[in-house]
Amino acid sequence: MSKLHIRGLSHSFKKEQKRLNVIKNLDFIVDDGEFIALLGPSGCGKSTLFNIIAGIIRPECGAMFLNGEYVDTHTDAFGYMQQKDLLLPWRTVIKNVLIGPEIQKSPDSFVKSKALSLLSQLGLEGFENSYPNQLSGGMRQRVALVRTLLCNKDFLLLDEPFGALDAMTRSVMQSILMDIWNKKKQTVLLITHDVEEALCLADRIIVLTARPTSIKSEIDVNLERPRSTTDSYYINLKKQVLDMLQLELESIFTMN
Ligand SMILES: Nc1ncnc2c1ncn2[C@@H]1O[C@H](COP(=O)(O)OP(=O)(O)O)[C@@H](O)[C@H]1O
Ligand SMILES: [Mg+2]
Repeated sequence: MSKLHIRGLSHSFKKEQKRLNVIKNLDFIVDDGEFIALLGPSGCGKSTLFNIIAGIIRPECGAMFLNGEYVDTHTDAFGYMQQKDLLLPWRTVIKNVLIGPEIQKSPDSFVKSKALSLLSQLGLEGFENSYPNQLSGGMRQRVALVRTLLCNKDFLLLDEPFGALDAMTRSVMQSILMDIWNKKKQTVLLITHDVEEALCLADRIIVLTARPTSIKSEIDVNLERPRSTTDSYYINLKKQVLDMLQLELESIFTMN
């Protein structure tokens, strides 16, 4: 049985007097414990797809099955890190990351020490009592990741979690995420604009078409981890994925 099955998903937004078609007849299956990276041109509908999966947006058409059961409302099954960090400005870093456990129940000392340890692992030691406006974009993003991880869900939706980080910090964060995933084997859907990130992390890459988005291709990354970026199979896959994305980008620019 699949962990998640999306079937015939379509969605549009109202734009002035017209409809803007964003997702068109999208189908895919995610297996339990699988790490999937989603790549697609900017504005194609990736964040909208996550908002639909998380139950924030109700789709116009289509069905979603979680662990084999039909879901049509908001579910708390997911740890969702949205593209905007949505940190609460009046709460300190530690109070922001403890929101999930606080909603579920009052956080015990075990959760609090786990929070401190994750903050330290992600390079935020000493900033526990800072407020979000005292942090850089990259630091805020790491706080949002800690908050998502502390929700303790076995299914993570990560929307460009490392987008605001410089290349060095990003690569450290990718290894930390891999360590966490290796231990817990959560199911992960990760949106990224970085082909190397997708190739280094994912079991499978889903390439999305330009808007209205649907699946362009699904590519299995059959490589041992940690991945060698000099491996010829890796280099070929990278070229294949970049070529696909290039075609989708060209379709946007020739359409406009
Ligand atoms: N709430 C909304 N209302 C109207 N249009 C929206 C809304 N959210 C997203 N859009 C539009 O839908 C398209 C896809 O957006 P989004 O899912 O954020 O793309 P991506 O994450 O792939 O960059 C964009 O053209 C965006 O302007
Ligand atoms: Mg987005």
